Amino acid sequence: MHYDAIILGAGGAGLMCAATAGQAGARVLLVDHAPKAGKKVLISGGGRCNFTNTGTEASRFLSENPHFAKSALSRYTQWDFLELVQAHGIAWHEKTLGQLFCDDSARQIVAMLLDECAKGGVEVRLSTEIGEISHADGIYRAAGATAPALVIATGGPSIPKMGATGIAYDIARQFGLNIVPPRPALVPFTLGDDDAAFRDISGVAVPSVASVRGKSFEEASLFTHRGLSGPAILQVSSYWAPGAPVTINVLPDAGAKLRDARKRMPRAGLKAALVEHLPKRLADVLAVRIALPTELGNASDTMLDGVAARLENLTFHPTGTEGYAKAEVTAGGIDTAALSSKTMEARTVPGLYAIGEAVDVTGWLGGYNFQWAWSSGVAAGQAI
Ligand code: FDA
Repeated sequence: MHYDAIILGAGGAGLMCAATAGQAGARVLLVDHAPKAGKKVLISGGGRCNFTNTGTEASRFLSENPHFAKSALSRYTQWDFLELVQAHGIAWHEKTLGQLFCDDSARQIVAMLLDECAKGGVEVRLSTEIGEISHADGIYRAAGATAPALVIATGGPSIPKMGATGIAYDIARQFGLNIVPPRPALVPFTLGDDDAAFRDISGVAVPSVASVRGKSFEEASLFTHRGLSGPAILQVSSYWAPGAPVTINVLPDAGAKLRDARKRMPRAGLKAALVEHLPKRLADVLAVRIALPTELGNASDTMLDGVAARLENLTFHPTGTEGYAKAEVTAGGIDTAALSSKTMEARTVPGLYAIGEAVDVTGWLGGYNFQWAWSSGVAAGQAI
């Protein structure tokens, strides 16, 4: 069968691209090896899909080219997607930090996207292998079909047990496009034996400011039986490189708090001061690790300042991350230098497009990655 476009991958980006192109009049084939469309949408946001973020702007995305995402994000914005959600009568709410979720279920988002595809006459072929891809005389051949346009929307390799693969990179390489080395992002860290005491307080969460390589996020950090997680940690993990320390400020303004405790309870030790502000199990571990060798009343300002500095810069040297098995997204991917930021078309390969997570554009935690899927999908869908 001949189409105007073959779109590989029926995730958020592929569905959005197919609906846009189909509604503009193109004959579109959307192919996926999974038996269901939008599997990651379905499990996202704890089943309620954090579908966008009101604070979406290019500075909240990582890429070798930090300007690349600007054009697509500004032409199909978070407000455009919200309008679509509302037009479909899907109830939504804002959680913290501009994160928008369905009130009811992520299934509504997938149903909405499939409905938009149906309006555009898109042929959705699930449980279908892409097979070998060839290109001759301006025509692509894949999944037993032909078309002058081929869209790579197969995402990245994070969560392979859901059917995620690195096929996007293989296809891109086949056509001579460069790949920025992919790495797990929005992913928990593992800690080694030096930090075993923290692994023993698995389940303890604390409001914090976590920092990696000069990038800081103020949200919760969570201690796990393998290491560190929680939103602040997931955010900084995207900026991490092996060997880089992770610092967590677990007690902002610690100096003033310790001085105050010294005045009120001079006979107490450090642990008693920490328990006033931190979960008890964390206070226990910190009191041992930081070890103030005297009662608070006998501690000099210098000693308290030293303790405060350690609480505000609790430093960990992760042994690694929990990898693609636990990474919410893959950072890196198809090099944006090879693509038009307006259309997502490969500059050197006419008719070849790449969108969504397959591309070297990675959002912060909080709905940014879906917004990139929608915006890049629309950009390519309009150009086909
Ligand atoms: P996606 O991975 O969604 O789609 C790719 C499609 O290609 C899949 O349908 C797959 O089956 C198909 N495919 C892959 N290999 C193939 C092959 N070899 N042959 C045929 N088909 C193939 N983001 C956010 O903004 N808000 C949120 O709430 C969440 N929550 C969340 C939770 C969890 C657990 C995860 C793992 C991820 C999130 N994310 C998120 C991230 C978000 O899910 C992700 O960035 C987008 O789904 C990416 O959309 P894409 O369409 O680019 O890829």
